[in-house]
Amino acid sequence: MTPLAKTIAGVAGGWAASRAFGLLSRLQAGVPGPKPKKLQTRRAFTRNATLGAVGIVVAEITGGFVFLLWPKKTGAFGGKITVPALSIPKVNATPFRDIPGKFFIVHTEDGLEALYWKCVHLGCTVPWIEGEHHFHCPCHGSVYLYNGTRIAGPAPRALDRFPLTVDDKGNVTVDTNPNGKIERHEYTPKDAVPYKF
Ligand code: FES
Repeated sequence: MTPLAKTIAGVAGGWAASRAFGLLSRLQAGVPGPKPKKLQTRRAFTRNATLGAVGIVVAEITGGFVFLLWPKKTGAFGGKITVPALSIPKVNATPFRDIPGKFFIVHTEDGLEALYWKCVHLGCTVPWIEGEHHFHCPCHGSVYLYNGTRIAGPAPRALDRFPLTVDDKGNVTVDTNPNGKIERHEYTPKDAVPYKF
């Protein structure tokens, strides 16, 4: 073989060997041949999925902070409502009615109650009837005592009440969150918060 033929044979053998090794290594790695467009699509998908996941986490964290820092609703039903001491009735006097908060404050000999004015039968608004000295539901006739106990009609129990607190000046704050309302069968003295003003 001439030197030129040897050179040509060597180059051809080297090229064939490199192709064979490349193919062999891809087969061992289980990777199919190069498919640039698909590879790019996969990379773009992975990148977008990662960015999307990060975005969701950031949005959830931001939403949590906004929820925590957003001022709670006050002065309306669902929030805390403060009734000044001057508006608190004397013992057994006409209940104080708070329209935004949908409650009455009554003052029994045991203390104060904040009665949710929603009838526990089917939800009508129950007014105080001064002439009867009762709460009397106009829908189906349920009647409740001053302290909220049911005495007549289809209502199954006493009026629900909301938790309340009294500050050192006699102002009363009622928490009207419906999820926090207190159900009871009938009035007991411990339902009332003592009031010394
Ligand atoms: S809703 Fe009050 S008695 Fe029926």
